[in-house]
Amino acid sequence: MSWIREGELTLLERFCANIIKAGPMPKHIAFIMDGNRRYAQKCQVERQEGHSQGFDKLAETLRWCLNLGIREVTVYAFSIENFKRSKNEVDGLMELARQKFTRLMEEQCFLNVCFAYTSRHEISNAVKEMAWGVEQGLLDSSDVSESLLDKCLYTNNSPNPDILIRTSGEVRLSDFLLWQTSHSCLVFQPILWPEYSFWNLCEAILQFQVNHSMLQKARDSYVEERKRQQLESDQAAVTEQLLREGCGSSRDSQLRRILLHKRSSGREERVQGFLQALERKREEWLARLGTASS
Ligand code: IPE
Ligand code: IPE
Ligand code: MG
Repeated sequence: MSWIREGELTLLERFCANIIKAGPMPKHIAFIMDGNRRYAQKCQVERQEGHSQGFDKLAETLRWCLNLGIREVTVYAFSIENFKRSKNEVDGLMELARQKFTRLMEEQCFLNVCFAYTSRHEISNAVKEMAWGVEQGLLDSSDVSESLLDKCLYTNNSPNPDILIRTSGEVRLSDFLLWQTSHSCLVFQPILWPEYSFWNLCEAILQFQVNHSMLQKARDSYVEERKRQQLESDQAAVTEQLLREGCGSSRDSQLRRILLHKRSSGREERVQGFLQALERKREEWLARLGTASS
């Protein structure tokens, strides 16, 4: 039987889900699932049991998201820093992750798992990839931009999260999706992750809805600003080119338009070529990793 799909919402939950769905809904929610060990301590169960219930809570949360029409979920399951925990705890977490994620993946759900992840590692890796692209002659250094960095992140196929939820009352991001959440609604909830409920999720969505127009405005103006900056730098480069070629006084706006278009389509072509090369490089790396671990 399906783990995510088993169990329906209660009548009351369905009723509230329908009311919430009348407002703007998030398409993508990210969770920092925190508080498993405090939960275990509180309930006087083994630490591993707290982690196990945390994984089960994820399946339940995915079911609520599915019922609410939320198509994408990203979770912070294990940070690079978490390797510093005792060997016993790390081994236990690895074993749980193997079992539980295998089961979740079988359901081909809408889940991105950040495991052995930190955001700063992801961002510095993206910077290194762009430097590699320039070194290989695939990119011009002027192609390096925020939007190219976006495309080099592991999350490049997903829209940025609309909401980032952290449980257990901690009010820090612990190096999670720092780049992707600049315009997300950040929700910090005191509940420990294994105790997370449908109502906690509704509360977070309501916070998003209350702040929706401000978030949207901030997002739109960022996109506009990015476009404006790109255009400005392209225009400056075209002026420089015209000066170099002795046509500095050219008022021929059609020539300027042609050069601008040439510049942006040239960049687009280089970026596509670079991203394809990057994908191949990552696939080769994964294949090597697979061979080494088998
Ligand atoms: C989150 O719960 C799960 C992982 C980090 C793997 P914690 O294990 O951090 O539990 P607390 O925050 O110490 O209660
Ligand atoms: C963050 O939780 C990572 C995960 C939830 C996987 P931690 O509990 O490890 O974070 P810090 O160390 O308290 O910031
Ligand atoms: Mg914690």
